[in-house]
Amino acid sequence: MKIAITGKGGVGKTTLSSTLSCIFSQTYKVFAIDADPDMNLASSLGIHEQITPIAKMRDLIKDRTGAEPGSSFGEVFKMNPTISDLPETLAINYGPNDNLKLLVMGTVDKGGDGCVCPASVLLKALLRHMILKKDEIVILDMEAGIEHLGRKTAESVDMMIVVVEPGLKSLETAQRIKKLAGDIGIKNIQAVVNKVSSEEEEVFVREKLHELGIAFLGSIPRDSTVIKADMEGKPLNSYGTSASLQSIEKIAERILNLEG
Ligand SMILES: Nc1ncnc2c1ncn2[C@@H]1O[C@H](COP(=O)(O)OP(=O)(O)OP(=O)(O)O)[C@@H](O)[C@H]1O
Ligand SMILES: [Mg+2]
Repeated sequence: MKIAITGKGGVGKTTLSSTLSCIFSQTYKVFAIDADPDMNLASSLGIHEQITPIAKMRDLIKDRTGAEPGSSFGEVFKMNPTISDLPETLAINYGPNDNLKLLVMGTVDKGGDGCVCPASVLLKALLRHMILKKDEIVILDMEAGIEHLGRKTAESVDMMIVVVEPGLKSLETAQRIKKLAGDIGIKNIQAVVNKVSSEEEEVFVREKLHELGIAFLGSIPRDSTVIKADMEGKPLNSYGTSASLQSIEKIAERILNLEG
């Protein structure tokens, strides 16, 4: 199963991506991918070391396999189609059983350096050619907003989660995401409502989602544990039970039921 986490800036995509990755890694092999050039999935997982980005993958694969990537990047990944085949240098292992691998797409190295388009082309090819086994899950932490949908980075995902918060702005983004995702053939769009601090807020967002025809997957309360985890650079699940963790566990369960 491949899941992309999308939504407006700051709604909680990275928090949800890292926490779902930790939860799933208790029973599945998880491949967490930071597809945001302004990357912070590693930090949200409590990983503070340097990770080689996918943008440098061409040379690394060439080194390891001797293959010269031709006109199509897809050829490269046909040779390394499963998660376990991926060169260790590209993804770092994480967690007690090495059940979680983290890969980062890459960033803009220098101001004025242009676009991350080549890296996103690589990532798209990787996702398209990756053959997942039954016990493997890919979680993509996407860039805020809608530009990645124009580039079709996540076109081959099975489910796109759009994170919203109480308020019209993130819902407007969700509406655009739904439309653009549909255009590129992604039909399974599910909304997660984050930072909910009252029943009233939850009702408001759920009604709007209903009007927009976006399925509701679950909600996460506004929780100071999330802020604490962010301040200390540790994963949310390292703080024991919290309201936010419990609700993300429920969301994980629903994802498995939907895809089961
Ligand atoms: N449930 C929550 N309760 C309280 N604070 C939260 C909650 N979820 C996220 N936050 C806070 O909101 C901020 C943004 O969260 P996060 O980085 O996960 O969002 P994002 O959508 O990935 O942002 P970006 O668009 O910049 O990638 C962080 O400071 C985080 O601690
Ligand atoms: Mg983020």
